[in-house]
Amino acid sequence: MASKYQAPRGTFDVLPEQGRARARLEAAAREVFARAGYEPVATPAFEDTDLFVRGVGRSTDIVRKEMFTFEDKGGRSLTLRPEGTAPICRAYLEHGMHKLAQPVKLAYVGPFFRHERPQAGRYRQFHQLGLECIGADSPLADAEAIMLLSDLLGELGVPGVELRLGSLGSLEARRGYLEELKAHLHAHEGELAREVRERIDVNPLRAFDSDDEGTRAVMASAPTIVERLEGEDAAHFAEVRELLDAAGIAYEIDPALVRGLDYYTRTIFSFVCEELGAQSEVGGGGRYDGLIEQLGGPATPAVGWAAGIERILLALGEAEEPAGRDAFVAIADEGQRRRAMALATELRRAGLSAEVDLAGRGLKGQLKHADRIGARRVVILEADGSAQLRDMGSGEQRPVESGNLVEEMTGGES
Ligand code: HAM
Repeated sequence: MASKYQAPRGTFDVLPEQGRARARLEAAAREVFARAGYEPVATPAFEDTDLFVRGVGRSTDIVRKEMFTFEDKGGRSLTLRPEGTAPICRAYLEHGMHKLAQPVKLAYVGPFFRHERPQAGRYRQFHQLGLECIGADSPLADAEAIMLLSDLLGELGVPGVELRLGSLGSLEARRGYLEELKAHLHAHEGELAREVRERIDVNPLRAFDSDDEGTRAVMASAPTIVERLEGEDAAHFAEVRELLDAAGIAYEIDPALVRGLDYYTRTIFSFVCEELGAQSEVGGGGRYDGLIEQLGGPATPAVGWAAGIERILLALGEAEEPAGRDAFVAIADEGQRRRAMALATELRRAGLSAEVDLAGRGLKGQLKHADRIGARRVVILEADGSAQLRDMGSGEQRPVESGNLVEEMTGGES
């Protein structure tokens, strides 16, 4: 019986098949974060709208078109967070983390919201896992961040992942380059897509991202920032590359790499999985040395990334097999219900997965259900207080001493 209600457009329900794979992915990520000293944090699902306007940038698609913005009852403008970096920087400042030993290394997992046109791999509510390393300008921090995402994707077995690497230079260095790029775009205005033409002066870098053929031709001869890097910017980028080389991480320098957020400076990177089609980026990030200052804090260098949980799961492609159960506690007689519950609790406390029948089935039905949920062994509690142990693989069944059930089930070690 279908209800007239459905999950809103661009959102989805996580059902058990996907829930299992998701839990495994999140556990792997938490491990990777913890091993490298990134502490788990969480920020609210909504923030003051202005945080994103300032942080992500007024000229970005995210702020111009994709935010879920609403007014609360006090007339304040709030926005469901479209990304996690600006909120983490807000929290860093609000809680005086700039006074702690630097860098502060933080990690997060949670839902994010963008009003985009839904398609495979692109949703209006999606989930990211990410990390931010705040207060370090060393190329080591960039390399560490990149290596951790590379390791995580490798550990999970995401196939066909490629790393694209670029650098946008520091904010000051970029000013000169942007003028050069604008001049190139103005010189070819007639060949550009309207969207790009209208934004030459607001966000010229985005022209590199256009799918429009005319624009792409213009961009093929555009000056790139990677070839204009000088001094400390060039040295920083060179060292990030050397560190990745030394770690054996393959990458391709992509001079046309740009990202959809305004806060990036110097290193930017993107992990793509071509098999995913149009929405091929599984994760990406970069350095954002100006963001904390932009939000009213002291000048603080930082680097981080976020990866899309749904995209990683799509790339992995398989639904996780059910884990099965170590034990099912069946009863041959109604009178054994409490004993069954107590035994299941004891087995769970001993670390096993165990279930009892919650649907009032007869013994035959219980055995059938135990088989369906993949129970490896079934304990049958008889009316006279005795017990049988059935191995579901071999079908073999034998009596067991009631007092020894937990020891029997845990391999005699409990
Ligand atoms: P982003 O590239 O906008 O970066 O998003 C990171 C990842 O989130 C993407 O690579 C993609 O896998 C996933 N993603 C983005 N939008 C959607 C969507 N609509 N549906 C499904 N998945 C999506 C950031 O958000 C930055 N905060 C990353 C960062 C952290 N930079 C520095 N620190």
